[in-house]
Amino acid sequence: MAKKTATNGVRIRSGMDRDSLREDITLHLRHTLAKDEFSKTNWDNYRTVVLSLLDRLHDKWLNTQQHYYKVDAKRVYYLSMEYLIGRLLDNMIVNLNIQQEVADALEDVGLDYEKIRDAEWDAGLGNGGLGRLAACFLDSMATLGIPAMGYGLRYDYGIFYQTLENGFQIEKPDLWLRYGNPWDIVRPKIQYPVEFYGHQSMYNAPNNGHIKYEWKDTRKVQAVAYDTPIPGYDNGIVNNLRLWKAESDVALDLKSFNQGQYIEAVKENQLEQNITRVLYPNDKVFVGQELRLKQEYFLVSASMQDIIRRFKRSNDDWTKFPEKVAIQCNDTHPNLAIPELMRVLLDDVDMTWDKAWDITKNSIAYTNHTLLPEALEKWPVSLVRNLLPRHLNIIYEINRRFMDTIRASYGNDTGKMARLSIIGEGENPVVHMAHLGIVGAKKVNGVAALHSRLLKETMFREFHEMFPDLFTNKTNGITPRRWLKQCNPDLSNLITKHIGDKWVTNLDELKKLEPLAEDKAFQKEFAKIKLDNKKKLASYIKKTTDVDVDPKSMFDIQIKRIHEYKRQLMAALHVAVLYNRLKKNPDLDIVPRTVIFGGKAAPGYTMAKLHIKLINSIGDLVNNDPQVNKKLKCLFLENYRVTLAEMMIPAANLSEQISTAGMEASGTGNMKFALNGALTIGTLDGANVEIKEEVGDENIFIFGLTVEEVEELRRQGYNPWDYYNASAELKMVLDQVRAGFFSPEDPKLFQPIIDALLHKGDYFMVLADFDAYIKEQKLVEKAYRKTSDWNRKAILNVARIGKFSSDRTIQDYADEIWEAPAVKLKK
Ligand code: IMP
Repeated sequence: MAKKTATNGVRIRSGMDRDSLREDITLHLRHTLAKDEFSKTNWDNYRTVVLSLLDRLHDKWLNTQQHYYKVDAKRVYYLSMEYLIGRLLDNMIVNLNIQQEVADALEDVGLDYEKIRDAEWDAGLGNGGLGRLAACFLDSMATLGIPAMGYGLRYDYGIFYQTLENGFQIEKPDLWLRYGNPWDIVRPKIQYPVEFYGHQSMYNAPNNGHIKYEWKDTRKVQAVAYDTPIPGYDNGIVNNLRLWKAESDVALDLKSFNQGQYIEAVKENQLEQNITRVLYPNDKVFVGQELRLKQEYFLVSASMQDIIRRFKRSNDDWTKFPEKVAIQCNDTHPNLAIPELMRVLLDDVDMTWDKAWDITKNSIAYTNHTLLPEALEKWPVSLVRNLLPRHLNIIYEINRRFMDTIRASYGNDTGKMARLSIIGEGENPVVHMAHLGIVGAKKVNGVAALHSRLLKETMFREFHEMFPDLFTNKTNGITPRRWLKQCNPDLSNLITKHIGDKWVTNLDELKKLEPLAEDKAFQKEFAKIKLDNKKKLASYIKKTTDVDVDPKSMFDIQIKRIHEYKRQLMAALHVAVLYNRLKKNPDLDIVPRTVIFGGKAAPGYTMAKLHIKLINSIGDLVNNDPQVNKKLKCLFLENYRVTLAEMMIPAANLSEQISTAGMEASGTGNMKFALNGALTIGTLDGANVEIKEEVGDENIFIFGLTVEEVEELRRQGYNPWDYYNASAELKMVLDQVRAGFFSPEDPKLFQPIIDALLHKGDYFMVLADFDAYIKEQKLVEKAYRKTSDWNRKAILNVARIGKFSSDRTIQDYADEIWEAPAVKLKK
């Protein structure tokens, strides 16, 4: 039995063999959980496995952290309001590379892995792409050996649990901590006060009489650290995800308590804990609520205190800060890091403005995630003044100096100054967080080539003119560990059998599959795996919806947040077109299709919620009509989340990536599908453009208006009626929607959809692209009939998708933004 011994002679629970694992699983049941064979539940079994893995992970975590200190590594800090992690059990086992050993140990004690795995609830601390990207980045940073740490918030409630009632989305609270989170450990001694409110006061420094500022009479909330280990893939490295939970600074209001007002006494305490109570469930829309601003500053302040504490453990020279620390802000949400670092350096460290600015400007970088104007954070000055008065003052000073810079280069161009100002003036002045990021950050990056180009040409054009080197592109990526090795074990084994397993950490290795694309035997094996994955999804669908779907039909899948720009509506209308064709001619020879949707709509997004209802209404009609339901099915799966994605993506034949060109910054679902052998139907938007370049024009279905054509059409005056009148099939489905054909119980139900499309200008250009979309779907169908050729294309998608590994993305960030070298550790 391999047992590692620490220097003081104590046994360390780090054995990776079957016997050590079995022993610890058994011991934890008794010693940690106080359970035996009479009392244990599936949850206990799951926890014994988690605890045994944590033993190993914590050992490696300590080795890693000590090593970072030993080599005085430059640290990378990723600040994100969201981490959409999903389940961790599989991920930990895969990254520790002990799948077989765990399986063997569980067999020894008579436990069923699949059952144990299902005890885990998804950690849904994110909305969509931005949060999942942060989770993939953590995995890649650890795998590459970047000395990194993720900082975020430990929400009591993650993204809501979605149910469908009569086809409508209903939101339920996500009680993910009901039984506690077995993966994280609380660090009660690592807690920092976070201050709010109060006022700024001015005084003269006693030593030199300089004017100094102080933030006084604040209210404090404590931020307590909860740590989750983040192992790299089979490299001995374990990084940290540190999530902050808000705790009250004062346990109880003693005065009320003593007067017998027990409830009053805990009220204040409760209010403060509210800061990390719930994740805001909005994707790509700014909701300017005070609680959200509190959350953002809470993340920034606690993380900055922790970063500075760690920096000072090894450094006493502040000018070394940018050499030793890189901070990456995931969107503008943590951009208060800029004035916060300035505040610490000015007020606490007593630095001059220029020195403080130099340090700040060289330490912090910011990622832009969207071009949608409604997503841009613009905080009312009045709110910032009330909550963070000292920061507002610093932001004003940053802006004053920035305006001087503009003046120096462009003269007194007041128009330009107004456009670029961090403070948006007007009746209700605002702090423009993206502008703060651009002025204060070392680098600003977009998340796909097209998106980064558009940032430079449109939204940030004048900034780009001023600071051409500031802007850079870092095309998003996905971790191959979770999105192939873990979620599609059969395909993963097939690939490894043929080209070895180097692809797990170097996804470009998949290129070696190219010659196999023509190989009939390989195609057959590949197709069998796809079919098996479809069967698994079909049985999940049967279990959850009671609808029978044919695994041999084409699985046509669109999973992502529900948003008008993502145009789930267009895919739904296509289903209606197919339905009408089949009704007209039940013998029509079409490729049988199962169209599957999944995704959550923001609770206040009425139109998106109506789209969900329409999909379900179309599905009800189609699935229950014996004349068509052998050839067509339409489903909306409840509560889309990471775990469901892991089942749906490996089962897809066709991946729907059909946003209006210019609106999706990158997309990452598109990458996951291609990696698992689905073909994409998509517009030239986001990372689709680069996917097309990689997989080749003949292996992807591109349709619709380009960004330039969308712009041109808008400029000319887009009239959706022209398209309605020109297409009989389109006209027919829209008339059906309007007439209540899909909602006989409430014929006017979908009128708002018709209004948006025909009477309010169809901003997302569904009608303009519809004809091209259904023509392209015909080409998809034609291609799908040629089975061998389809398989060849699917294999080529897998072989050529290597660029979209988040390892590549992170390497680019590390080289070009963070300037943080990787470290190596003995396993
Ligand atoms: P932190 O960086 O202070 O948050 O500490 C994280 C971990 O780093 C600790 O639990 C130690 O294992 C390790 N560590 C902290 N300080 C030192 C040091 O001075 N030398 C070596 N390792 C350290």
